Amino acid sequence: MRPEDGLYLLDADLSAVPALATDTLVIGSGVAGLSAALAASRHGGVIVASKAEASESNTLYAQGGVAVALGAGDSPAAHAVDTLEVACGLADPAAVAKLVGEGPERVRDLIGLGASFDREGGELAFGREGGHGLARVIHAAGDATGREIELALLRAVRADERITILERMCATDLLHAEGAVFGALFTSREPAGLLQVRARAVILATGGAGQLYRETTNPDVATGDGVALGWRAGAEVADVEFVQFHPTTLYLAGARRFLISEAMRGEGGVLLNGAGERFMPRYDSRGELAPRDVVSRAIVSELARTGAPSVWLDMSGIPAARLERRFPQILSVCAEYGLDVRRQRIPVRPSAHYFMGGVRTDLGARTSVQGLFACGEAAASGVHGANRLASNSLLEGLVFGHAAGHGAGALVEARRGRMPPMRRLVHAPSRKTIPLDVEDVIRSLKSLMWRAAGVVRRREDLEAALEQLLFWEQYVYQGEFRTARGLELQNMLLVAELIIRAALARRESRGAHFRTDFPARDDAAFGRRLVFSRTTPLP
Ligand code: FAD
Ligand code: SIN
Repeated sequence: MRPEDGLYLLDADLSAVPALATDTLVIGSGVAGLSAALAASRHGGVIVASKAEASESNTLYAQGGVAVALGAGDSPAAHAVDTLEVACGLADPAAVAKLVGEGPERVRDLIGLGASFDREGGELAFGREGGHGLARVIHAAGDATGREIELALLRAVRADERITILERMCATDLLHAEGAVFGALFTSREPAGLLQVRARAVILATGGAGQLYRETTNPDVATGDGVALGWRAGAEVADVEFVQFHPTTLYLAGARRFLISEAMRGEGGVLLNGAGERFMPRYDSRGELAPRDVVSRAIVSELARTGAPSVWLDMSGIPAARLERRFPQILSVCAEYGLDVRRQRIPVRPSAHYFMGGVRTDLGARTSVQGLFACGEAAASGVHGANRLASNSLLEGLVFGHAAGHGAGALVEARRGRMPPMRRLVHAPSRKTIPLDVEDVIRSLKSLMWRAAGVVRRREDLEAALEQLLFWEQYVYQGEFRTARGLELQNMLLVAELIIRAALARRESRGAHFRTDFPARDDAAFGRRLVFSRTTPLP
């Protein structure tokens, strides 16, 4: 790792920057951040900051549902077996046990807050998704689970007098004192300006990094900021080579890369290639319900073999009334482009969907830096290993968000009365205003990552990508940006570099990380997680 990798280490005077103070600062307002805020508010005041409007998040767009062992014939033990199997040997069994064991209680809490899940005959209805041994995924309004969860949590947070929400505030640096984190510095979007929030505990809940890729299901806010903030503060990161590509994203020229839920395949949808042939059984005995990495690679291989621009999801075998009830949102979005899913095949391709990597945390959502917690997609809690089991991440946000909130609350109690003079981690001193088309660099970065660090990887492409990234970093890291977008670009470059370096270091194929030059899994050399930080680089 280069010494200049976004080094924001010079101390600076913060006296001129407007300040707020609270007990716990939560950065991010998706399922993880809001769950954390509700738990932390039992111990004191909370500020939840969000870089867009509060509801905008990956959570809002979640479709398939929440995997949880609540059904008859299911158990946390069975859920753990499936989670560990899909994780390809790299998940932490203790973290998985916490996820699946506490999951049912957290989901009951959520229902208690007013979230309403679909029912059949009065009982929760369970959908089937890839990698699950049985139907285990609860859902809301058919295919709008994330919206139901996000809005239920937001209502509860807004009703809590101890919690304040700050919208359109982008966290750009963590504040530190005495070797520990005590707050964060924010750049407001409009009007542009700085704000510091001092806190006794800080929780990173900034979500994923799908925006690093040209093709992604993630909204604009998913730029990996939390990982960059944590990295610069010296926190360990883990599993960053593992990016999950969802096999089925709508692929129509000019249309947004809208997710076509895996639950559609769970209902019996089949994938066809350009010749109209069902190909998945040739790749895996589980067919369309094989884990995502397997299905994504099969699609990439079919695209290369047939030269077609996409494959197709065929739902024509499922009764129209069932499709209308179960997938109203997907039917409606496809209809906007003239596609009638009840009769016509949906053109789909893989795209970047979920970041298994993140700031490494323990069972209490603590990072390796004092005062700093992380949860949800921004964290590497150990539950996903090399691949995430479908619909496990909303559950992770509920369980580990709750843990982060309580952990932060306990720290707040211990730090009560103490708020040392703070230092900011600031940009390198040589920064200057340079003429830079930020959007152009972002577009180039996204294309580069899609080509070099996508579904299929190889050393030559990764090395060339690293060289290109280091070149861009030379001038982007030194640039002075007055807009949050420029700071996001710096974060995106940093996280891209971490992904590429880890992908180069893992000279094997496992889960979502597939290298054509090392196509086999190598447990002897790589049956372990890659954990590194600014001070402990990769070997
Ligand atoms: P998010 O929900 O992404 O929230 C991140 C928050 O951080 C946002 O409020 C954002 O504004 C804020 N933020 C980011 N950077 C900053 C910054 N610098 N300063 C201030 N705020 C910041 N998972 C499932 O389990 N089941 C599903 O069915 C499912 N479907 C999905 C469908 C889609 C289309 C997508 C994109 C994902 C889906 N996932 C699903 C994954 C799941 O939605 C996410 O992993 C999960 O919601 C992440 O929650 P989170 O709270 O960690 O982050
Ligand atoms: C989907 O509905 O296919 C997404 C589920 C997930 O990402 O877990």
